[in-house]
Parts: sequence; C-alpha cells; structure tokens
Amino acid sequence: MPASKYDKLRDSRVLLLGGTSGIGFATAEASIEAGAIVIISSSTSNRLSSALSRLKTSYPEAATANRIHGYICDLSQAETLEANVKTLLESATDSNTHKLDHITYTAANVPRLPGLADYQASETKPSTIILRYDAPIIIGKLAPAYMNPGPRSSITFTGASTASKPTPGRGILTALGASTEGVAKGLAVDLAPIRVNAVAPGTVDTELLRALAGPDPKALAGFKEMLKKVTLLDKVGLPEEVAEAYVYLMKDANVTGAVIHTDGGRLLK
Ligand SMILES: NC(=O)c1ccc[n+]([C@@H]2O[C@H](COP(=O)([O-])OP(=O)(O)OC[C@H]3O[C@@H](n4cnc5c(N)ncnc54)[C@H](OP(=O)(O)O)[C@@H]3O)[C@@H](O)[C@H]2O)c1
Repeated sequence: MPASKYDKLRDSRVLLLGGTSGIGFATAEASIEAGAIVIISSSTSNRLSSALSRLKTSYPEAATANRIHGYICDLSQAETLEANVKTLLESATDSNTHKLDHITYTAANVPRLPGLADYQASETKPSTIILRYDAPIIIGKLAPAYMNPGPRSSITFTGASTASKPTPGRGILTALGASTEGVAKGLAVDLAPIRVNAVAPGTVDTELLRALAGPDPKALAGFKEMLKKVTLLDKVGLPEEVAEAYVYLMKDANVTGAVIHTDGGRLLK
C-alpha cells in the first residue's frame, strides 16, 4: 500500500520530556498510535518504569518491535541541566546515529505561589523557573545537532491559557506560562528551519491538576466545577484531547512560532 500523505508521524523518532504523566503521557500514546518510535524521559526511575510499563502494556506490538524507550533526565537543577540534557539526547539517538524528528516538552512541577499581596522576592522556586525557562532554552541550544534538519522536524513546548488570560487572584502564574511561550517564539527564529511552537492548554485533568487541588476528593471536585465554569464548553480538558495539539504541531511542516490554544474556549468567556 502506498504511504498516505497524511501518515506523517509513521517511523518518525519522537522524544517526549515529561512523557510519564498527564499531557505528555497522552502525547506519547498518540505518537505510538501514529506509528512513531517514542522515547520518554523522567526525573525518577520508578515513574519512568511505571510509564514505560503502561505504554508497553497498551501497545504490545510497538513494545515487541522495540519502539518504546525511556531514560532518566532531571531538568530541575541548574548545575546539572546541560549535562543531563546532553546525556538524554545521546541516549535517545543512540549516540547521534538515529536523529530525532520531533521533541515535545511538557515537564513542569506544581507551581505553588501565593497571591500577589503575600508574594516575596525569590518566592518562585528555582526548579519551577528552570523547568519552564532554562530547560527549554538548553534544549534549543543542544537539540538541533541531534535532529534531522529542515521544516519536517519540530520542537513543541508548553505554555498555558493563563499566559493570555490571567486568572483573577492567581495573576502571577501568568508569567510562568508566558515565559515558555516566549522561549518558543524566540527559538522559532533562531532554530529555523527546524520549527518551534507551543501548546497553551487550559485546565486539563492531570496529576498536576490533582496536586494543585490537594488530597481531598471533595476539594478536587469543587475545583474542577469552578474551572469548568470559566470555559465556553463547560468542561475540563482531557489529556487525550490536548495531546492532539502536539500531534498537529509535529505534522504541519508549515507552522512555526505559533501558540496553539486548547482550552474549551476560556479565552472567549
Ligand atoms: N494540567 C493543567 O491543567 C495545565 C494547565 C495549563 C498548563 N499546563 C502545563 O502543561 C504541562 C504538562 O502538565 P501536566 O498537567 O501534564 O502535568 P503532569 O501530569 O504533572 O506532568 C508533568 C511532567 O513533568 C515531569 N517532571 C516533573 N519534574 C521534573 C523534573 N525535575 N525533571 C524532568 N521532568 C520533570 C514529570 O515527570 P517525572 O515526575 O516522571 O519526572 C511529568 O511527566 C506543564 O507545562 C503545565 O504547566 C497544564
């Protein structure tokens, strides 16, 4: 059968930093379903083995064909960041013998920030800033040498709908998503013809959302109810919905410097 012109991810090599849970894990699933060879990374070995085992159980054919891989890479410490990213890129490409086609970046920790009145200088944890700002820049610095050149290749980072529409009372969160979206646009210019874009999710039902709500299931339900109300679609997004934006950005060789919004229409409400 001739290859379909829309079957663009088949046999492509996709590295997913932050692919062990939430949106990144769903993007790993979507990439495997689209025929890609998938490499996920994690900061901890138990989270990595759990995610690899879930992927291999869901996709036994890809697992048997050795198309699902994973490596450790902690992205939160300034001192080790560059060396860790380099080691990951070496591993993900078998020492640069199998170049990457796409990189997606969904790594983040839970941003615990007070309201404006209680904010102090240095309130934002260094790891939070490194994960959202420095790590994307270091990836932009190192990754192109490990990627196939040209517009078919892409890097996709993750911002947030709050970067475009701040949430009242949590306005300072805006800067975190906006910083990553800014890095994506800057790198789109510097790394062309490799494409660089960002996805800006609204609220998505992931581990990060559950961590923000806290351990009480009632608090989580109330939190979700509140978040639904700020969307046109009256819903919280699902990881498998938002993953489609990353797949799109990998496939469209004509898009770069873009921020794709998938947020239930919250920007219009
Ligand atoms: N969920 C939402 O409502 C929402 C809304 C707007 C924007 N976003 C953004 O979407 C992105 C993905 O969020 P998510 O909800 O899918 O979160 P998630 O389920 O908590 O996933 C976060 C990922 O980051 C990785 N990570 C955490 N610390 C790391 C470290 N030190 N080094 C390397 N990787 C690390 C985690 O892997 P390990 O723990 O295995 O290392 C995990 O794979 C984030 O940028 C988030 O800000 C989410």
